[in-house]
Order: sequence, then structure tokens, then C-alpha cells
Amino acid sequence: MKKEDMYTANVYGKREVVVAKGKGALVWDVNGVEYIDCLGGHGVCVLGHSHPKIIEALTNQVNKIITVPGVLYSEVRAEAAEKLVKIAPKGLTKVFFSNSGAESTETAIKLARKYTGKKEIITMIKGFHGRTLGSLSATWKAEYRIPFEPLLPGFKFVEYGDAGKVEEAVTDDTAAVIVEPVQGESGVILPPPTYLKELREVCDRKNILLIFDEVQTGFGRTGKDFACQHWNVTPDIMAIAKGIGGGVPVGATLASDEIWSSMKPGDHGSTFGGNPLACAAVSAAVDVLVNEKLSEKAAQTGAYMMQQLHKHLDENRLVREIRGLGLMIAVELKTKSKPYVIRAVQERLLLLTSGANILRLLPPLVITREQVDQVAERLTRVIQPLKSTD
Ligand SMILES: Cc1ncc(COP(=O)(O)O)c(C=O)c1O
Repeated sequence: MKKEDMYTANVYGKREVVVAKGKGALVWDVNGVEYIDCLGGHGVCVLGHSHPKIIEALTNQVNKIITVPGVLYSEVRAEAAEKLVKIAPKGLTKVFFSNSGAESTETAIKLARKYTGKKEIITMIKGFHGRTLGSLSATWKAEYRIPFEPLLPGFKFVEYGDAGKVEEAVTDDTAAVIVEPVQGESGVILPPPTYLKELREVCDRKNILLIFDEVQTGFGRTGKDFACQHWNVTPDIMAIAKGIGGGVPVGATLASDEIWSSMKPGDHGSTFGGNPLACAAVSAAVDVLVNEKLSEKAAQTGAYMMQQLHKHLDENRLVREIRGLGLMIAVELKTKSKPYVIRAVQERLLLLTSGANILRLLPPLVITREQVDQVAERLTRVIQPLKSTD
């Protein structure tokens, strides 16, 4: 038994890899075996592993100060917030820093309730917003929810992709609708072309807030800085996390000055939120995103990866569909995907599942074309009928 299995809670379906280090889109295990990382820390590793600018920013900051609580000012926090606001869709002018995606969506829900004074939140069938009790209340999957009920009241699930269903669900007590622009955890489900725009119109007409959960889709992943920019739709509140700290744990919730003005000192907070190390990492990560044009790179490399995957897998009888946006890609199988994720480890390829039948790829946006070729070739070997030994 591995030491980690002895001493940490057994809540993750582990792959048999003990990771020792990483660089770009590659990681190495403790025996020096090299893997292509399309798991990317569950989509966190946007900039690639061990980006020199993140190392530099953290090293500089660690030598100054590691903790400054929210009741004191911090220049590095101010700078990180300013940089996020500058790349965010217009109108999202103020930031609250937390430490994870779940906290950033939970903050969005609290903020919507506080600003509107209303209680109901409309959320999506197959949506995923995190595992804390608040964010879980907005999450669809029964397996995640039922063992922990009762969850928060006031959450209504409607079909994703049909703005009319949201309109029908709105009541006088509706505060907001929360949606992932592209549903990640449920299998990289893309919205119909006019969906997000129609959703914006419904929210305006019904006077409710639109919350985009860009925890997975944000920060270049889909080929734009934020996925909502593909459809030119701006939310009232945006939750982000994953890649924004270059690998360091940090979440952020953005909204307008007006919406944030409903929150007064004491209404919300986080001991670690806005930590100087995390904020130094955010500042550096935004610079890298912009200077290295990573969103554009994700669009280009994503298109190339789709092309290579189609070339290698279109004739594969186990594959139902390949779809994606930028470097958020799903290979849907006609069978359960879990055994193939395990088999991929033998091919030195790290993958995610999403849903029961889907292999999900969230590689660092710096993955090279040669590495993409390797991914497609390795996947061809992985997606073959299982043997009794698998
Ligand atoms: C869309 C979305 N929202 C929220 C979360 C929760 O983020 P975290 O695991 O950092 O709490 C995730 C995590 O995968 C996510 O994909």
C-alpha cells in the first residue's frame, strides 16, 4: 500500500503514477518515466508545469511576505485584481479572491442572493459547480448530491441549451441563473450557437442575474480568455479558478461595482483568500496568458488536436464522437471510459474521464504539435477492445 493511501482520505479514483516533477505538458514519475499530461491538474495547468514566470513570481513573493489578511492592504493583491479585471469581459470591475472553484461559485451564489434579495437559483441539468454544500446544491449529478442531502433549498434544475426553459422557471423570487458556458464535467457539452445570447436576453427581460461558471472554461482554455467571449455575452457575475494561479490554488469571483456594493464588510470573507503568494501567481499568470498569446495558441493547437484525433480515431469502432472547443476536448466512447484511462497510463498518457463514457483532455495550452501527434498515436493504441487482463 502506498503511503498516500495510508494517510489521505480515499476519495479519488487513483492512477498508479507517483508524480515527481513537471515541465510544460510533460510530467515525470519518481522512476523518471515521462508522461504527456492531458489531465493537466484537472484543467489547472493552463500555463504548463513549472512555468519560469510563476516560479520567479513565487520566489520573489516568498522572500517578502506569505500572508496578509483581507483586513490589511496588499499591493500584490491589488495588482492581481487589476490584471484580472483588465482581461475580464467589460463591466466585471471588482474581484473577490478565494481559494478554489467551489468557493468562487459559492461566492457568486451568495452575491446574487444578497444583491437581489431573492432566493431561487436556476441551474442546469448536467451542470457542475463544485463539492461544497452550497456549490453542490447547484450541481446536477445524483451520486455527488444524494449522500449529502439535505442541500440548500431554492435550486431549480432546467435543461441546458434551451433558454425558454429558464424563462419558464423564473418566479418572483428568482435571483439568478448559473451556467457553465461549455459544460465540462458532464462531457464537454457545447451550447447551441444562440443559447448564451438568449439566456442573457431572458435574464435582462426577467430582471435576474446571469452567473457564468468559467472555472474550467476560463483563462484561455477554450481559445478565448473566457469562453463567453466566443458568443460575445457578458455575465453579471463570473466565477473563475483552476488556471488563474498558474497552478497555485486560487479562485476569484468578478462582478460590477454596483453588484458588489450590496456586500458590506462582514458579509463575506476568507482567511486565505487574496493570499500574497496566490496573488503574485495570478499576476504572473495573467502576464503569461497575454504575452504568450495562450488563448490564441489554445485555439490553434486545439484545432490541430481535433484534426489529429479525427484522423486517428474516426474509424475506431469504440469511438462515438470527438468534440471540443480550444483545448477542452472530449472523446466519447460507446463503452465505459474508466478502463481506458487506466490503460492510457501504460502508454504514458494522462487523461481525465467525464461522465461514464467520455475521455476528457485538458492539456496545458503550451502543448506542442509534436506532443499532440503523440497523444493521437497513443490514444489509438489505448482505445482498442479490452482484454481479460485489463
Ligand atoms: C465548472 C466548474 N465549477 C466549479 C468547479 C469546482 O472547482 P474546485 O474543484 O476547485 O472546487 C469545477 C471543478 O472541476 C468546475 O469544472
